[in-house]
Amino acid sequence: MSDQRTTSASGFPEKFFWGTATAAFQIEGAPHADGKGESIWDRFSHTPGRIARGETADVAADHYHLWQSDLDLMRRLNLNAYRFSISWPRIFPEGYGRFNEAGLDYYSRLVDGMLARGIEPFLTIYHWDLPQALQEKGGWANRDTALAFADLAGMLARRLGDRVSYWITHNEPGVTAVLGHVTGEHAPGMQNLALALPVTHHLLLSHGLATQAIRAEAPRPLDVGVTLNLAAVEPASDREDDVMAARRFAGGWQDNFLEALYHQRYPEEILTALQMLGAPADVLREGDMATIATPIDFLGLNYYTRMIVRASRGASLLPEIVTPGGHLTVMGWEVYPQGLRDLLIQVHQTYKPARIYVTENGAAYPDALLSDGAVHDPDRTRYLQLHFDATRQAIAAGAPVEGFFVWSFMDNFEWAKGYEPRFGVVYTDFTTQERHVKDSGRFLAEVAATNGARLDNE
Ligand code: FCB
Repeated sequence: MSDQRTTSASGFPEKFFWGTATAAFQIEGAPHADGKGESIWDRFSHTPGRIARGETADVAADHYHLWQSDLDLMRRLNLNAYRFSISWPRIFPEGYGRFNEAGLDYYSRLVDGMLARGIEPFLTIYHWDLPQALQEKGGWANRDTALAFADLAGMLARRLGDRVSYWITHNEPGVTAVLGHVTGEHAPGMQNLALALPVTHHLLLSHGLATQAIRAEAPRPLDVGVTLNLAAVEPASDREDDVMAARRFAGGWQDNFLEALYHQRYPEEILTALQMLGAPADVLREGDMATIATPIDFLGLNYYTRMIVRASRGASLLPEIVTPGGHLTVMGWEVYPQGLRDLLIQVHQTYKPARIYVTENGAAYPDALLSDGAVHDPDRTRYLQLHFDATRQAIAAGAPVEGFFVWSFMDNFEWAKGYEPRFGVVYTDFTTQERHVKDSGRFLAEVAATNGARLDNE
């Protein structure tokens, strides 16, 4: 717990995790190595028209082969934690049933490599790469996928639970539901608003079942949580329809997850809206909400930006997201650090999670690799500095934040946007696979080494 006794002079708790985050599909490459099955992102990224410039993640940052030197570099940057994800189809190529020992071995060695370097593993079980074979059976719209996920989680806990203490069931289930099934921007590329509720519900159900499976199968008590993407959502004006649109947007995009996890319910307006759209009536079954609200040890929070929402001025049921003027990142996202502070405080006061980790935060800027190997990225450094500071302010206001993971360790495959948005604090040369520490990486290394005190010597 973070309180007066354990907080250091810099304002961060004495025991604080400073790390970076990645996801298997975005960095590993090696889509066919050692018996791996196909994932929905393999299929999607090879479908013409889905990814910018037709790029694929077949090589990505080649981390499948370069993991040892990548972990060495993390150590050199003084990082004491690393949030990574496992690829489900490496372990169960068809999603369930046939187990692939070689896939599990890879992650077992990776975990050993972290521990040998004094890096605490934070394992995310699902960061979006569902086995394609499960998609053929309906994917997250099918309740059985939740059961297969719980089996995977239990097996991982049995085999890695002796060494991995921190477990994150899902990364950003809201993005899977909305970008994967409503807008179609992400795999599996569906555009069907009526799928939003079933997919959301099965993701949450799978989280609850997995939390129980991890606790049942692990050789010792482990810390289990889930990572949500929360934005600072605001209406574009005080017009009533904009205010309602912002409320509905926040309800479907983020509040429904918090309400289900902590209050065992979905916001009423979301249920009504989705039932009107024809969501199947048998999705919500007795006992599900209690399973979803199985107590967790921590909440993971990913924060990037503010979202300004206005009611559609046309016929669309979906609201519009207004892009503000001013300084934007390559993703078109506004730099809005006070949103992180406010959300941390708000979530702490409303839902009282025992602990919070900022499991992702970072920014994409157009980096240039100079001939001497330097990458000067003052915008990213500034972005991180502002968000570290916002976190410190939230801690001072009582939010129990105990770790911060920068997205990302190195530049990688940014989903539908391909390789153009560079989020790393380490530059990836995608031609040679050489890594170059950016100025922001050096800054992070100093912040980590001083547990935040570096923020005060500007
Ligand atoms: C988050 C994802 C992560 C990365 C960042 C930029 O939504 O979890 O994989 O793409 O955005």
